[in-house]
Amino acid sequence: MSNATFSHDEVRLELPLAEATQGNNGYDITRLLATTGDTTLDVGFANTASCRSAITFIDGDAGILRYRGYPIEQLAETSTFLEVSYLVLNGELPTPAQLDEFSKGIAKYHLIDERMREMFRSMPRKSHPMPVLSAGLNALSTFAESKYGAGAYDPDRATHLLLGAMPTLAAYGYKNSVGQPFLYADESLSYIENFLRMSFGLPTGPYPFDDAFTRALDVLLILHADHEQNCSTSTVRMVGSSGANIYVSVAAGVNALSGPLHGGANQAVLEMLKGIREEGGDVTSYVNKVKDKKDTTKLMGFGHRIYKNYDPRAAIIKKHADEILRNLNGNDELLDLAVQLEDAALSDPYFQERKLYPNVDFYTGLIYQAMGFPQNMFTVLFALGRLPGWLAHWREQANDPATKIGRPRQVYVGEVERDYVPIQQRG
Ligand code: ACO
Repeated sequence: MSNATFSHDEVRLELPLAEATQGNNGYDITRLLATTGDTTLDVGFANTASCRSAITFIDGDAGILRYRGYPIEQLAETSTFLEVSYLVLNGELPTPAQLDEFSKGIAKYHLIDERMREMFRSMPRKSHPMPVLSAGLNALSTFAESKYGAGAYDPDRATHLLLGAMPTLAAYGYKNSVGQPFLYADESLSYIENFLRMSFGLPTGPYPFDDAFTRALDVLLILHADHEQNCSTSTVRMVGSSGANIYVSVAAGVNALSGPLHGGANQAVLEMLKGIREEGGDVTSYVNKVKDKKDTTKLMGFGHRIYKNYDPRAAIIKKHADEILRNLNGNDELLDLAVQLEDAALSDPYFQERKLYPNVDFYTGLIYQAMGFPQNMFTVLFALGRLPGWLAHWREQANDPATKIGRPRQVYVGEVERDYVPIQQRG
């Protein structure tokens, strides 16, 4: 592989090649503006690498996803969410002693400040739990600083603190929405068990754990742990690049994730399936509506910026969905509709030509619903899973000497200079 040369009129500029260990290399255009006076235009950053990163590798054409080199299929089969979090953050799988220390370091931060509980209690019952979660994370920044001073920003402490507090914040958002009492964490439980108990348990009695349920959530969180430079992770990096602290950067990631084109799609898929059922279950007419260019309806849970093949996470979830839904007495009717919708789309030239396949969100909502989570909690579960990735990217960026504040250029298409007209002389 070699450098490329940009040439236009009299100008020639060598573009050094930034070599990848695998996948797309990048041509370094850093000197383009200074040399030519012109910039590049890449709406939605579909062609632009914003950094060098060693965390996650995706080959979208081959449907490959690896965290730190390990295939997602192997991790989903045999690992746990905390082990994967350690891997994503540290680059290597932990020894038993390292995992034990990591887990205990996180568990001690499940207990949040009592006044934060009051804050959650004062949120409107009908609030969507995503902005509630991001409000909680912003508040966590202030509580952490008032308790630990500058020590709140020690990267290891902040990582443990955020991983520890996140399930509590997520569960409290849910408890507030259903008007139930907040539970304190139980540090003797696993990360997932503790979250489930804090979400669905009551102070009136013990919470009945179900191993299949716990493992299903563990696997779902593993599948969400990182996904390189997606919209929310790029947001975390962008906010962090200004020097903003890790807590508020992660809060910004939650906000980015909430959109229906990103993590909010898992909620939108279930709404779509229910809508199709209410209309009589006609999958073909829904697919026709999606294909109609005069209609803005999209097939939610389909399509991906990077995957032009089956999203490997969707493949794993689909494999498990049937079994999980049967175990959890989930809604087979909606699963049937989802399978019919997928079959109809995959055999349709519109979707084939555009290489649109189910993404991670297509089947997750059905499982979350079967677990007992309300629709508006689905994206919170995504955020819980994505947290290690956000933290790893924030830290990777902070340690990268090449980091600069994120500040894109624009191609200005507005008015050229004109003189101010006093209001009396207008119209
Ligand atoms: N339904 C119908 N048509 C679609 C869909 C869809 N879900 N997704 C893409 N297309 C069409 C577009 O209309 C476009 O058609 P055109 O070439 O005739 O104009 C073509 O496929 C290319 O799509 P783009 O929008 O250019 O692709 P982009 O990479 O910008 O968008 C995205 C990717 C946002 C995921 C898109 O596929 C989408 O909106 N999907 C539905 C929402 C969703 O499921 N989001 C979750 C993504 S995964 C995640 O964030 C965790």
